[in-house]
Amino acid sequence: MKADISTLHKSDILILQRHVNLFACQPLRLVLSLRLRYILRSTLRASRMKKAKLAAKKPATAAKERATRSESVKILISRDRIRRRIREVARQIRKDFADEPLHLVGVLKGAVFFLADLAREIPGEVSFDFIAVSSYGKNTHSSGQVRLTRDLDSSIEGKNVIVVEDILDTGMTLQYLLRIFEQRNPKALRVAVLLDKPSRRLVPVRADYIGFSIPNEFVVGYGLDYAERYRNLLDVGVLTLANAESASAK
Ligand code: PRP
Repeated sequence: MKADISTLHKSDILILQRHVNLFACQPLRLVLSLRLRYILRSTLRASRMKKAKLAAKKPATAAKERATRSESVKILISRDRIRRRIREVARQIRKDFADEPLHLVGVLKGAVFFLADLAREIPGEVSFDFIAVSSYGKNTHSSGQVRLTRDLDSSIEGKNVIVVEDILDTGMTLQYLLRIFEQRNPKALRVAVLLDKPSRRLVPVRADYIGFSIPNEFVVGYGLDYAERYRNLLDVGVLTLANAESASAK
């Protein structure tokens, strides 16, 4: 049977060394001692490497565990309710613009799923485009300043435009966008939001189509993020942070 030196411990090797010293003849003792010293060094090196690998893995695992422990999401609006409500909103939009082509403008990134689902529920001619804006300073509180980071691909002149937003919060983003769009002479300009937080409004803007009016809770999912995470959740949920770092976030 072949011995596996990786299973030998330092104490085993020292015992073997003692036996060699006691029972082996001089030439054999020399050869065996050298061999045992080599095995001892290899064993110690392997053990040091194993410890270093474990130490390198620990911080990431610890951070992940901390994150999982300190954040939790409680469903506020289930995927079924979202689907049903979007169907109703789509019907209402089509009723208001019977037989007319519609041009949806999604505001990146939060509105992607809402736009995708809404567009597929509206019968008839529908086209869409995307625009991206950014608040200065990407924290969870609105900084009040908005800038355009990606413009539309095509003109909206003469079109029935529906601005599609995931959430209407302070209203700063929508106010900024409506000002830009009005200058481009659309035939009609309306706003559809999945979520509305009226209690947070700082400027007088309103949506024409509202999925759900919600209280001032920190919501994530269905496009809404916290530090770019949770957008892919199918439901909208309330995020709780153990340290209450961002209680007034979107
Ligand atoms: C969110 C949301 C709206 C805006 C609403 O975008 O998508 O565009 O905030 O907030 P307001 O009413 O206070 O202006 P966010 O800046 O979080 O970017 P995102 O869509 O990429 O997540």
